Amino acid sequence: MLIIPGPASIELGNKIANLLEYKSYPVEHRLFPDGESYIKIHPELKDETAVIVQTTASDPDRRLMQLFMMTKTAKDYGANRIISLVPYLAYTRQDKRFQKGETLSLDVTLALLEKTGISDLIVFDIHNEKSLRLIEKDHKIKVHNLSAIPILANYLKKNNYENAYSLSPDKGAIHLAKKADSVLNGGHGYFEKQRDKKTGEIEMAVKDLDVEGKKAIVFDDIISSGGTMAKAVQGLKNQGASKVAAACSHALFMKGAEEKLIKAGVDLILTTDTTVNPYTQISISETVAEYLKKL
Ligand code: R5P
Repeated sequence: MLIIPGPASIELGNKIANLLEYKSYPVEHRLFPDGESYIKIHPELKDETAVIVQTTASDPDRRLMQLFMMTKTAKDYGANRIISLVPYLAYTRQDKRFQKGETLSLDVTLALLEKTGISDLIVFDIHNEKSLRLIEKDHKIKVHNLSAIPILANYLKKNNYENAYSLSPDKGAIHLAKKADSVLNGGHGYFEKQRDKKTGEIEMAVKDLDVEGKKAIVFDDIISSGGTMAKAVQGLKNQGASKVAAACSHALFMKGAEEKLIKAGVDLILTTDTTVNPYTQISISETVAEYLKKL
């Protein structure tokens, strides 16, 4: 098995290779003046299993193009199995046609990955597992959807949030709160969230939750603009929670997200290294290394 860290995930790829005691083979990469990527990979891949590690946060189009270039080149050089670890897979939120004429971007992404030769795709906390499984059926790719929630919950348990109440920002994500609760044991619930499909504006109804004087944690797959998480944090503070942490697998943190969370009164922001960002406190590398041993 050869570990190939792509330009977006050099540190994570190296960590995984170290844990598995494999050599890592970073790609040579640069940008042409017009913004196109140049990619050169380790070519001795005949009959090998290549594990290509590339997240697709911040500049998702470029990161995906680089991923396609790496996987196709690995295929060209005779790799017999290509596993792509894409801890944050972009374009997964558009997994249904909410309005006529819309693109199913998750479907397009899987189609392109299949075409470039990958057989296995490892992701973390995909936005909607049900849609993924429906779309996956049309492709010859096996998608392994791992979760960072137990890693986040265990960290919080050891850092003053034992027995905290776990919440998800909407009913569809209740599985995140349930998973966390199985580690934290403080109960779980969800908010009622509605997003305007045209404007993206969020409406969040905060029902009565049993959080007065308690610590609470909101778990989400993604924090992007921070709007969803800020509303949830604010709601919990208004209901008397003593401390509120915001935890997510993928921190995209668009401009202003941190300020929104601070203004809402967040006490702790916790995330992983599925994306490269200044808030990362914990790594998914051990979970991935253990999983790769079984593949
Ligand atoms: C959407 O349903 C996701 O699970 C997240 O809640 C959402 O992507 C967060 O976006 P934002 O931070 O922009 O509110």
